[in-house]
Amino acid sequence: MDEVGVTAGPVRARGPAFIRHACAEDLHALHTVDEAVFGELAYPLFVLRQFVDVHQRHFLVIDADPPLLGYALAAHAAHSSQAWLLGLGVHPDARKYGYGRALMDRCLAMLRDDGASGVRLTVKPGNTAAIKLYESIGFKKTSYIPGYYGDGEGRYEMTAFFGLDQTTRVGVTP
Ligand SMILES: CC(C)(COP(=O)(O)OP(=O)(O)OC[C@H]1O[C@@H](n2cnc3c(N)ncnc32)[C@H](O)[C@@H]1OP(=O)(O)O)[C@@H](O)C(=O)NCCC(=O)NCCS
Repeated sequence: MDEVGVTAGPVRARGPAFIRHACAEDLHALHTVDEAVFGELAYPLFVLRQFVDVHQRHFLVIDADPPLLGYALAAHAAHSSQAWLLGLGVHPDARKYGYGRALMDRCLAMLRDDGASGVRLTVKPGNTAAIKLYESIGFKKTSYIPGYYGDGEGRYEMTAFFGLDQTTRVGVTP
């Protein structure tokens, strides 16, 4: 397993847990947690498998041995220096223990170390939990995009730029 570090703080509230890169052996556990989080909008298995193959470095899971409690998936844009957060989810039974923040902290630190100038994401306007999390680590709403997924529902785009100050909590400045 490609361990990227033991998380500190509230993540320990439910016993040992650590953040590591996803791997092919996680496929079914990933699918289970993704379905628990996103229901019918969960990624199909074959897409998850391709994400593991292509984005493994920026595909992080919270491993509580067993099961997986959540994941964060990010990717560098091919046409710019910015990265995208493509997915973030924590199992409904494991929320409010700090896992989401821990995943974001680790993911953003890796993207910054890998040269991203900033990170973009989209989020449903009514998703208060996610918006509060993103705002608390420096993301700002930059636009509202109607019909973002072609389903009539709009999304906020949020962006955070990395600063030069390596001492900021997660390395992101507003
Ligand atoms: C968003 C999500 C990942 C947060 O995960 P989590 O592990 O519960 O979050 P944390 O415990 O690390 O909380 C971090 C911060 O998020 C915000 N937050 C989390 N849950 C919240 C809630 N129910 N209401 C308001 N703010 C909330 C708070 O700012 C919190 O900081 P605080 O504890 O200091 O107040 C989780 O709710 C989730 O999986 N939601 C469904 C999937 C989703 O919406 N993903 C994002 C798509 S863009």
